Amino acid sequence: MRKIIIFGILSAVLFLNAAFETHAQASVVTIIKAGKLVDTQTGKVLTNQMILIENDVIKSVGANLTIPAGARVIDLSNATVLPGFIDTHVHLTGEPGGNYYDDIFRKTFVDAAVVAHLYAKRTIDAGFTTVRDVGSEGFVALALKNAINDGKFPGPRMQVANYYIGSTGSHGDLNGFSPWLGSRMPEEMGGVADGVDGVRKKVRYLIKYGADVIKFGATAGVLSEEASVGAPQFTQEEMNAIVDEAKMHGIRVCAHAHGTEGIKMATKAGVASIEHGSFLDDEAIRLMKERGTYLSADIYNDDYIVAEFLKLGYPQKIIDKEKLVGRTQRESFRKAVQAGLKISYGTDAGVYPHGWNGKQFAKMVEWGMTPMQAIQAATVSGADLLGWSDKVGSISAGKYADIVAVTNDPLQDVKVFENVEFVMKGGTVYKNSITR
Ligand code: ARG
Repeated sequence: MRKIIIFGILSAVLFLNAAFETHAQASVVTIIKAGKLVDTQTGKVLTNQMILIENDVIKSVGANLTIPAGARVIDLSNATVLPGFIDTHVHLTGEPGGNYYDDIFRKTFVDAAVVAHLYAKRTIDAGFTTVRDVGSEGFVALALKNAINDGKFPGPRMQVANYYIGSTGSHGDLNGFSPWLGSRMPEEMGGVADGVDGVRKKVRYLIKYGADVIKFGATAGVLSEEASVGAPQFTQEEMNAIVDEAKMHGIRVCAHAHGTEGIKMATKAGVASIEHGSFLDDEAIRLMKERGTYLSADIYNDDYIVAEFLKLGYPQKIIDKEKLVGRTQRESFRKAVQAGLKISYGTDAGVYPHGWNGKQFAKMVEWGMTPMQAIQAATVSGADLLGWSDKVGSISAGKYADIVAVTNDPLQDVKVFENVEFVMKGGTVYKNSITR
């Protein structure tokens, strides 16, 4: 008898509990009617599709889905619908502020932290629902990611590298100034590291404080005052150690690399992607192809730098370095496309204004890609590089409902992506000038 009573009470409690939970978590069901739907996995355009979304996830896609009672219906039957875009190279915590030396000497990461939410909003409004942030100071990108994930304000899904790991005097250090000036950051809290033990420790430190990905500088760069633009800045042993250490933690590595030698060294070390990739020769392309290394090349960047940087007070030295890189980087990109390298869509937004991410589509088409290839670089390929193929990059069952749309045909002219008209992330609509 006692057993029966206890069983009765237990089942009543379980029942109430279940009833309460279903009530508390009543799911939001959405149907999107897509006139055209870009299937990024096959590279085909499907017509008159329906996307069934439950809460933040896509449940099914097909031509003849029944619309569940009470579902919200978003009619994009006059538009082309695609998965939200992925930018694999941004710095969401910065933007050229108007004066190069002011930015370096009169600002800190606190200034960056105050405004970064604006950049996050501009990025998602531009249709980029996922980004990989490959270098920030003071753990600001991490804080930004957490605030976005907590729903504090709109922004893309983020993977963050935290500090850029660079050797002493490298592109990632403050160089070209008086030795008495010191560093802007206490060493413990910066990205500068040297030697095999030093770089291993830095990788551990960044991962300890939440890095999703590791970024290091394999070569010199443009927007810093060291003399070279492409010389290697770590030894092969240091690069190997960085990749090996990150791998132990299950974390991927990307390398800033302009110069040919450094590109090859980083590729051999086993990085997941080469950033910039300006001076590719046949051997570099062969090595990258062999190892499945991605190229994430910011080929729109040169237009902005050449047009604006003198006005923004950048030193002539930097403009001169840009002139060495600009055209060659685009020619390298074309060779990479012809060779069939894996390519993701990485812009370096933050060097130019956030929200302009979409401008690179047209450059990628101008330098050898078909519109569909450029779309795939910004969707499925980006997802693959991030290790997020199960989450984003295509409109298919199980993926987050990250969806963008445009009314004019992007396969005729990818410039329509400079003004994305509809943006949804995780089932929430952030922008909609199509159905209002
Ligand atoms: N962050 C890069 C660097 O300073 C930007 C390179 C920009 N130029 C270019 N042509 N992509 O090296």
